[in-house]
Amino acid sequence: MTRAHLTLHPAFPVGPIDRRLFGGFVEHLGRHVYDGIHEPGHPTAGPDGFRRDVIELVKELGVTTIRYPGGNFVSGYRWEDGVGPVDGRPRRLDLAWHSTETNRVGLHEFHDWLDLVGSELMLAVNLGTRGVREAVDLLEYANVPSGTTRSDQRRANGRPEPFGVTMWCLGNEMDGPWQVGHRSADDYGRLASQVAKAMRLVDTRLKLVVCGSSNRDMPTFGTWERTVLEHTWDDVDYISCHAYYQEHDGDLAGFLASGTDMDAFIEAVVATIDHVRAVKRSDKRIDISFDEWNVWYFTRWNEQEGTFAIDDWPVAPRLLEDVYTVADAVTVGGLLISLLNHADRVTSASLAQLVNVIAPIMTEPGGPAWRQTTFHPFALTSKAARGTALKVTLDADTVPTARYGDVPAVAAAATTEDGTVQLFLQNRDTTTPATVTVDLSAFPALSSATATGIWDDDPYAANTRDDPGRVVPRANDTAVLTGGVLTVTLPPVSWTAISVA
Ligand code: AHR
Repeated sequence: MTRAHLTLHPAFPVGPIDRRLFGGFVEHLGRHVYDGIHEPGHPTAGPDGFRRDVIELVKELGVTTIRYPGGNFVSGYRWEDGVGPVDGRPRRLDLAWHSTETNRVGLHEFHDWLDLVGSELMLAVNLGTRGVREAVDLLEYANVPSGTTRSDQRRANGRPEPFGVTMWCLGNEMDGPWQVGHRSADDYGRLASQVAKAMRLVDTRLKLVVCGSSNRDMPTFGTWERTVLEHTWDDVDYISCHAYYQEHDGDLAGFLASGTDMDAFIEAVVATIDHVRAVKRSDKRIDISFDEWNVWYFTRWNEQEGTFAIDDWPVAPRLLEDVYTVADAVTVGGLLISLLNHADRVTSASLAQLVNVIAPIMTEPGGPAWRQTTFHPFALTSKAARGTALKVTLDADTVPTARYGDVPAVAAAATTEDGTVQLFLQNRDTTTPATVTVDLSAFPALSSATATGIWDDDPYAANTRDDPGRVVPRANDTAVLTGGVLTVTLPPVSWTAISVA
């Protein structure tokens, strides 16, 4: 049995939890939009072609802000292709994913879908093949009430009131050589500054996200952030982080500990933001938008690359359809713990992605929609983690990992609202249960604890079309609160949410 002890006190907060921390991401990629959220003719589809079974699952997942339409896709996208009469829309090459984009779904349709799921739009502009003019045109189309060519075009297309989009991404992963139109940090920083300034001349209410590095292993990581922020300091509100994790070479404990990498990533970007703030003698605040994060078996995808042909541009091919296991869900839970522990500086985040493509929700054409294992920690956390994130003082045994050396066997985050406490705990030990004690004596009104989690005798168990309920949240009956101390036993390879009221 490993052991961990934590102490919580309401006087030691991390910061308020921004609901945008529980965002998602929809990219025109594979079967995400077409044959995922949009499937005319499906038994559950409405007249708009959107699947109601998927909408119900997205609502249950609890995603707040949804980033759209990419991702790599956006760097070759012409937003005008996706507005106006559907039958007149062009079919285009999608260079990012070697597919055909039919443009059956564009800004209007996607916004209607967002209204049905109750989420906010976070819109990305194309800074790969386009620039200031096109970004401002899109903003005019989306946010100006009326009386100009673009705004009246929107009205003529059936939307009298503006979309009123607040959150905007200034391109996507512009440091990546795979990105159509990728640039140096100086070139991108100058362009992003010009685009941001022009957009603010249209609408002063905007929240703008400038691209950070595509991941922490990029050769320009750190320098990229510093250079881009030096160019855009006065113009933007967030800098993005992206990170995907997978198990490498049987190092399950290391995989479960991916949150330690996310911690280090966030802290390095915070340090870089603060460095630029110091150099600029500024008291402006810039936050992190962690707008792509998840488990992604990227090496499997890499093995398929390079097999594309000039005469083969499929519509909605099956791409990046990872099937997630219990271990993946426990890792996702660990990543959520990392985000909560940095809620003071990470105030926007997007699980990448949402349906079919590295997604918590899967669908079959004409068939069912179901929850992957990773659905559960996200849904439980989005629902429970409200109010204020608390500082967690953790004293824990360690487990060895190949990737990160010895790491704490248990990871923990805590939140508080209206006198109640929510705990989120992960046991990274692959063979041994962990006994966790939590000193809650600073919360004398608390009297009971209810624990729900994800674990299984087989850490590689998964949900599939044929067995969609194989992995579901389970009650953990070991949680007991006595004398201001909560005690709980966590099975190996597990993630648990505990509500203390
Ligand atoms: O989410 C899949 C891809 O990962 C996105 O299109 C891109 O931004 C990232 O590299």
